[in-house]
Amino acid sequence: LRGDLIAAIDAAAGLDALEAVRVHALGKQGAVTALLKTLGGMSPDERQAQGPRIHALREAVTAALATRKAALEAAALDARLASETVDMTLPVDGVAPGSIHPVSQVMDELAEIFADLGFAVATGPEIEDDWHNFTALNIPETHPARAMHDTFYFPEAEGAEQRMLLRTHTSPVQIRTMVTQKPPIRIIAPGRVYRSDSDATHTPMFHQIEGLVIDKGITLGHLKWTLETFLKAFFERDDIVLRLRPSYFPFTEPGAEVDVGYTLKDGKRVIGGDPRQSENGGWMEVLGSGMVHRRVIEACGLDPNEWQGFAFGTGVDRLAMLKYGMDDLRAFFDGDLRWLKHYGFSA
Ligand code: PHE
Repeated sequence: LRGDLIAAIDAAAGLDALEAVRVHALGKQGAVTALLKTLGGMSPDERQAQGPRIHALREAVTAALATRKAALEAAALDARLASETVDMTLPVDGVAPGSIHPVSQVMDELAEIFADLGFAVATGPEIEDDWHNFTALNIPETHPARAMHDTFYFPEAEGAEQRMLLRTHTSPVQIRTMVTQKPPIRIIAPGRVYRSDSDATHTPMFHQIEGLVIDKGITLGHLKWTLETFLKAFFERDDIVLRLRPSYFPFTEPGAEVDVGYTLKDGKRVIGGDPRQSENGGWMEVLGSGMVHRRVIEACGLDPNEWQGFAFGTGVDRLAMLKYGMDDLRAFFDGDLRWLKHYGFSA
């Protein structure tokens, strides 16, 4: 048996064939497994004689499987390397010009749209402290919202006043702006944010854009008009329909999630149209927003009876996906020119 099995292992031409041999030997119904099972029915003497032999057989088969598997994998890698080689000696056939990445492109578009509305661009650090990312935004230490953020924390440094982290949203830029600038304030803050999360629609690093307006007598109406104007300009359509849905963010009161209407065209969701008027559409969430909570205004040293405002935040990558009809967020960060080219982003 041992000779047969080892020969079959060495003869396996691919990983699938090898797996079949493994199942035949060590699987639930496998030949070696069957031998192992006979041990239970043996007398102690017999078992002492046969046990070590059967176990040695199993070990030999396991080792041979591992060796063959490593060899097959190495061969597969070699084949791949051979077929994907780059010949460094070939002459360069014109140098391809660089191009703007869709995320950068969308951030530029957004900055331009908001510049027309009188918003300046503000920035803040990606390595942020606990106070700016959470506490000043009315998310104290014990707040359950902290658990929802999947935060990447840095190890606690000795003697440090605060825990440092990778910012989980661009909202800390609201705080940095209110602390350093006198109102009236109108800013947007685009940038990278981080959460420990990864699938087709989440990457551990992604991009958000924050908006903040602080002035006297600002209302929810100003917020809705601003979002509507921005989304119409961004999607380049007049038939954008918004729905503000009451929602909870610790740093807003009231808070609202913003949905936009889409219409199905050839099975694809195209932003635009009123889902209440057609069978053929629905709502899609695109933004978080709300009136800035008075505690946040206070935490920044401003008087909430004098100054009010609104804020919103949205995922830049998601906006890019919606506008350009892309469906896998991870492709944004693979740096594959073929993907960029497919969507018209590379020469
Ligand atoms: N910071 C929120 C998030 O990351 C979005 C948001 C910004 C909501 C501003 C309301 C106001 O989900």
